[in-house]
Amino acid sequence: MHHPSARSRLPRAATAWTLAGAAAATAAVAWWVTDSAPYPYAQHRLLDLPLPFLSQRRLERLLRPVPGQRVLEVGPGTGLQALRTAPLLGPRGRLDIVDVQQQMLDHVLRQADAQGLRTIVPTLADASELPFETGVFDSAYLVTTLGEIPDVPAALRELRRVLKPGGRLVVGEFFDRHQVRPAALARHANAAGLHLRAVYGPPLAYFALLAPCATVPDPPSTALRTASGTARGSAGPTPGPDAGATDSDPRAAPC
Ligand SMILES: C[S@@+](CC[C@H](N)C(=O)[O-])C[C@H]1O[C@@H](n2cnc3c(N)ncnc32)[C@H](O)[C@@H]1O
Repeated sequence: MHHPSARSRLPRAATAWTLAGAAAATAAVAWWVTDSAPYPYAQHRLLDLPLPFLSQRRLERLLRPVPGQRVLEVGPGTGLQALRTAPLLGPRGRLDIVDVQQQMLDHVLRQADAQGLRTIVPTLADASELPFETGVFDSAYLVTTLGEIPDVPAALRELRRVLKPGGRLVVGEFFDRHQVRPAALARHANAAGLHLRAVYGPPLAYFALLAPCATVPDPPSTALRTASGTARGSAGPTPGPDAGATDSDPRAAPC
């Protein structure tokens, strides 16, 4: 059997990284050019390309999905995150997905069926009027969706309402003309009764972790940094080397 030599493997790895970089750059440019809200289903193929800094690994670190939980995703698109998150909730868990476009929900369900995933539950609804009981979700997330929602404050109020006390909300935002910048997110979050605990990644492509104000569940995390950049505490998400808090100290945000 022929094994590729280390020398032949190196250029191959470099090529893979170059291709990945090119795909990400293409996605970013396409995103910017085709930018409209809600994101048109006709361009759904672009949604399958992962965006820089908004990886599934990072989402999971912040969301901390556990088997048996009930989790909400708003704006699943074609299921880039949903199809990876639902299996982590196990057969007794459940991922509710909410979208204003039936085609997006249908697309995710087709993929889920093909994978034998039966725990994704679709609902056609607007994020600013979530058709769920109060306090039913262990956690919720939106990736490159919040900025598309016409009434961001209402959506955040609704997310706050449907989360259990101590629940986690993860918001991922990418640079386009709809993007909700970290400072604006902090402002809207406070008004909605959510505490912005940390921002990870550069402001142009960041994940934010929020929690209902009444109960800020965990002690300060290693990821939370003081204004001078000193890490404190021991629990909480462990960011990568490039993932420090980029906003002002999130703990300083009043609830
Ligand atoms: C840019 S896509 C993101 C898809 C996916 N999260 C990803 O990262 O690939 C935004 C999604 O949010 C949905 N959306 C836009 N406005 C919405 C609203 N007001 N309520 C619920 N979903 C909405 C769109 O239909 C679309 O599926």
